Amino acid sequence: MDHTSGMLSPESLKGKTIIVTGGGTGLGKSMGSYFSELGANLVITSRKIDVLEETAEEIRGKSGNEVLCAACDVREYDQVERVIKEAKEKFGHVDVLLNNAAGNFISPTERLSHRAFDTVVDIVLRGSYNFTLAMGKDWIDSKQTGTILNIVTTYAWAGSGYVVPSACAKSGVLAMTRSLAVEWAKYGIRSNAIAPGPFPTEGAWDRLLPGDLKKKYDPAKKVPLGRVGDHQELANLAAYLVSDYSSYINGEVITIDGGEWLKGAGEFNMLEAIPDELWDAMEMGRKKGGSKLKMMWLYFKGMRKLKL
Ligand code: HXC
Ligand code: NAP
Repeated sequence: MDHTSGMLSPESLKGKTIIVTGGGTGLGKSMGSYFSELGANLVITSRKIDVLEETAEEIRGKSGNEVLCAACDVREYDQVERVIKEAKEKFGHVDVLLNNAAGNFISPTERLSHRAFDTVVDIVLRGSYNFTLAMGKDWIDSKQTGTILNIVTTYAWAGSGYVVPSACAKSGVLAMTRSLAVEWAKYGIRSNAIAPGPFPTEGAWDRLLPGDLKKKYDPAKKVPLGRVGDHQELANLAAYLVSDYSSYINGEVITIDGGEWLKGAGEFNMLEAIPDELWDAMEMGRKKGGSKLKMMWLYFKGMRKLKL
């Protein structure tokens, strides 16, 4: 058993119907696939029906459970309502909404057209509130409880240059998560979020680090644990958060990034690059009675390794 193994017991999500937006590819596909393995009725939605159908076939083949595909652009409220209606017609009820669909690209902000800015904000923020509002109204009207899980990123609170529309939108999604966690708790609706660090997917990585940028800016190097995430460890966290095991967790954002964002935030974390010789020389310098010659030797050796 390690982080690449499924964590929950086999029927942990049995009887639950779960809608996953952006469920045909990448992290949405991995999370949905694990939910299905755990017994859930899965509904995957995105714009490309052929991609959804291929994914659904693959998931059904592995889990033996039903998967409904529903094409939908999350920016269009009437399409969102239709997905919920189709899910209820097929499975009778919906229990969980996972807002995972996203659009993103890198660009200096001043080079963006206002339409480019709209495009990302509309997919990420409008798409998430469209689904949340439609689902929430339905749950409240039918006096049913529910669980919302939103996928954000650590720059939802830290901010990030070169992905400003995405940062604005994700921070809006985080604000919605926390706000509704309180407002809708009285209806038995929980809201939580996950902030993943780097998890390799074709959709995100080819867009955000195209071509040789991946080689130059190896994401694993920014992570204190020295590696990128494995899809199963994200799926484990998501499955726990949508299951009844987490029924007292509400309004939380859980970061799963190997310590990445804190490394960037800590004032002196760059001192990780200091070699032992330099630390030894500094220690000798502040203690009395050591050999000055040895201290100087350690100092120069350390500085050479540091390549200042
Ligand atoms: C600047 C761009 C652009 C780019 C499009 N536009 N791509 N501007 N740089 N790379 C502009 C267009 O010129 C146009 O503006 C406007 O945006 C709309 O473009 P369309 O191509 O018509 O949009 P659309 O077909 O709706 O496609 C949306 C998309 C696309 C976001 C542009 O990339 C997409 O479908 N993405 C979905 C998947 C995705 O992005 N996954 C990554 C999620 S990763 P004008 O003015 O010309 O009309 C993620 C990771 C977060 O979120 C954290 C990582 C650690
Ligand atoms: P991905 O494979 O590109 O997933 C994005 C999904 O969103 C696609 O399936 C896409 O399908 C769907 N989508 C885009 N626009 C849509 C629209 N208008 N309507 C409906 N669906 C739409 O990328 P990913 O890496 O798995 O990202 C999944 C989530 O994780 C995103 O929220 C992302 O911000 C977050 N995240 C990823 C990472 C990472 O390292 N991978 C890190 C932090 C956060 P269609 O094209 O068929 O519509």
